Amino acid sequence: MPSAPRHLLGLQHLSPDDLRAWLRATASMHQHPERYDRALAGKVVANLFFEDSTRTRLSFTIAAKRLGADAIDLLGSTSSVNKGETLIDTARNIEAMGVCALVVRARQSGAASLIASRVQVPVLNAGDGKHEHPTQGLLDVYTLARALGRDTTWDLSGLRVAIVGDISASRVARSDIAALTALGAHVTCVGSPGLAPRSLASLGVEVSHTLDPLLPSLDAIIMLRIQFERYDAPPAAGEAKKAPNVIASVREYREQFALTAARAALLPPHCIVMHPGPINRGIELDAEVADGSRSVILQQVTNGVLVRMAALHRLVQA
Ligand code: NCD
Repeated sequence: MPSAPRHLLGLQHLSPDDLRAWLRATASMHQHPERYDRALAGKVVANLFFEDSTRTRLSFTIAAKRLGADAIDLLGSTSSVNKGETLIDTARNIEAMGVCALVVRARQSGAASLIASRVQVPVLNAGDGKHEHPTQGLLDVYTLARALGRDTTWDLSGLRVAIVGDISASRVARSDIAALTALGAHVTCVGSPGLAPRSLASLGVEVSHTLDPLLPSLDAIIMLRIQFERYDAPPAAGEAKKAPNVIASVREYREQFALTAARAALLPPHCIVMHPGPINRGIELDAEVADGSRSVILQQVTNGVLVRMAALHRLVQA
């Protein structure tokens, strides 16, 4: 059994045993929720979210409450970070108020690690720039392993997984790739050269600039949103979504890479469809596929709470 970790900052560099320890802790939350309902009673978890979030922040809040803890939020738009206070100063002030853990989302890659190096309490990375989103990676692997019957061994050998879309801007893809490949899955990153550059091969994946030939051999397909806000010219409020300069046009992107009902029909019957959310329906994924029988997208959301309960419990108990 690996020793208890101090923080959860990323999945890259975790061993298969480390990953399995997180997944088994999650399964325990699933099977024996009654064991944990007062585990963190009297403690306060702080969510420091300097970037927008719906699912992840609420999921951490619900996870904390299910363990009997309170959760407080400091959101970017209301914090003194806007007055020039550094992330580290903010984190240390909140720590000084007596919280038991800091959940950090920030625009800068490496922000959670930087904060972790300057505080005593556990830090959980809830997404740092284009770098990592470890709880999303764990909930993706947990959901996939359960859906495909690998949840006793947590061994994904022989499974073929495609991650499709905006890989270069995606911290979810980086965490997914780390966990999936460490547990033995064969991963192909699919997108245009701008979104899925050949250099991704250094992460132990294949890279493909076409989707259709892969479809009949897949066990799981993870669709990603084009992260318009991470490129130079995000659409203004109310304005139609512009194509970032890495894609020629949204229409052309759809023609090549969207998971339409016609493409989904080419997947093997057991193949599952995943998406970390938020979905841009009608761009990367059609509504009938997102809501169809292959979709495990809402199971991902449900499992996200369990993963975050396991993460808070393991780190705060340690
Ligand atoms: C992702 C994120 O913020 O990195 N969403 C999430 O946490 N569920 C992916 C995205 O924004 O596209």
